[in-house]
Amino acid sequence: MKTMTEEIHNPLEAISRISQKINTLHDIDPLLKSILHIAMEVMGSERGFILMLDENQELKLRIAQNMTEEQAADLSQISQSVLHQVMEKGEPIICFDALADDRFQGAQSIRIQRIQSIMAVPLTMKTRPIGAIYLDSVERRAGFQAETLPFITAFAHQAAIAIENAQLYAALQEENRHLKKQIQGTFSAKEIIGRSNAMKKVYALMESIIESDITVLISGESGTGKELVARALHYNGPRKEKPFMALFCGALPENLLESELFGHKKAAFTGATSDKKGLFEVADGGSFFLDEIGDLSPKIQTELLRVIQEGEIKRVGETHVRHVDVRIIAATNKNIEELVSTGQFREDLYYRLNVIKIHLPPLREREGDIPLLAHFFLDKYAAKSKKPVKGFSPEAIEFLTRYHWPGNIRELENTIERAVLLTRDVFIQQENLQLPNCEVKLPEKMSLKDFEKQVAQKALAENENNISKTAEQLGVSRRWLHYRLKEWQDEEDQ
Ligand SMILES: Nc1ncnc2c1ncn2[C@@H]1O[C@H](COP(=O)(O)OP(=O)(O)OP(=O)(O)O)[C@@H](O)[C@H]1O
Ligand SMILES: [Mg+2]
Repeated sequence: MKTMTEEIHNPLEAISRISQKINTLHDIDPLLKSILHIAMEVMGSERGFILMLDENQELKLRIAQNMTEEQAADLSQISQSVLHQVMEKGEPIICFDALADDRFQGAQSIRIQRIQSIMAVPLTMKTRPIGAIYLDSVERRAGFQAETLPFITAFAHQAAIAIENAQLYAALQEENRHLKKQIQGTFSAKEIIGRSNAMKKVYALMESIIESDITVLISGESGTGKELVARALHYNGPRKEKPFMALFCGALPENLLESELFGHKKAAFTGATSDKKGLFEVADGGSFFLDEIGDLSPKIQTELLRVIQEGEIKRVGETHVRHVDVRIIAATNKNIEELVSTGQFREDLYYRLNVIKIHLPPLREREGDIPLLAHFFLDKYAAKSKKPVKGFSPEAIEFLTRYHWPGNIRELENTIERAVLLTRDVFIQQENLQLPNCEVKLPEKMSLKDFEKQVAQKALAENENNISKTAEQLGVSRRWLHYRLKEWQDEEDQ
């Protein structure tokens, strides 16, 4: 340890050292250790400790140096009143002869170790005390002098800022962890509702690729959950701590999309006022969800191919390449094979993207999932709107399962959200669903007779009640059709 006389000539050094720590040490314990260490070194003290106020406004020993915990506890006990006084006044005190000082008479350590000099310095944030530094020495150290008080006050002020920063940083980290967990919770595979065979196949496929970096292409009609699956792949996989970026490629013109994805150099084009990172760079280490790749221009397709093949990007206006490590998850609700065959989509890119394809079935093909999803959304929106809605009337649930859902799960979700708002009952009624009556798909369970009747009536309507044409379309004889029509008519007349 340097002597105090060496150091005291340059007290500013201590302040500048603690300022440095503000920027470099974000964790509270190493920071406190460092504050204590610098204070002892500069004051020429052999020992010291730091006490901090806890949430109950009690002073708690946080760190000690060159003394046992018992010694620190003994000293902090005895000097509590002194320390409280120091903190209340916001001013440090120095005691040159502790053995003779009334304030420390009870402390065994002071007698046993013959401590001469004691310094107590408050740690104050703005006007609020947050703790105190205690230093002592067995000699009458020159550092423990009235002249050093302004310096040690300035030092303690800097130290308090560093401590507050570290505490803020810890709180932010905690919040970040919490938010990340929330997002992960929302999109974990458990949140993908559905037990149909079609969805079980999707889960099995997801399971098999979740640990890998393999490129995935997710296809499916609008609202089938493509983004949900993409997020689940990211947040359940090894990249979950890194960013998940999603970009809807269809919404932006080519040049904007290019600079958005790959970044640009300052002055690369009018309006490029500074260098800008592209989203691929932002997503480095994480996953990138390219939504609606069917809309990508040939130029962007070529650049995307380079990202997938070489892990390289070039910012617009730059000539050198940068490396990125990004897992690509792409989605489309277009028939991409058709775009390949008409030359609108690069075949080589298609093969690169389509290493694994997850097809999400439309809701009307997910037998049995509709009631499950309907109840899931009901719970969600009942809780959100704080309405005591408990379920669906049998007619409402029957209607939901028969509707053909052109907008898939998004449409179902919107329907339930609206119904929860509209209903005045604890059970949602059919009229609360506000769905068009005509668009009803065939029910799962129906007799062959009813099935025949529905098919025949649909064909008749399409053929403007022309029996010959209808019979031809259905592959039955005119006689059969006449016979059936009469039978159905008789039933209705009864
Ligand atoms: N299996 C599911 N379980 C629960 N919610 C789902 C499920 N699938 C989709 N959703 C919900 O339905 C909505 C639409 O899903 P998502 O945005 O993932 O669909 P998409 O296929 O990306 O649609 P688009 O093609 O229109 O972009 C979202 O609110 C999503 O949370
Ligand atoms: Mg989507």
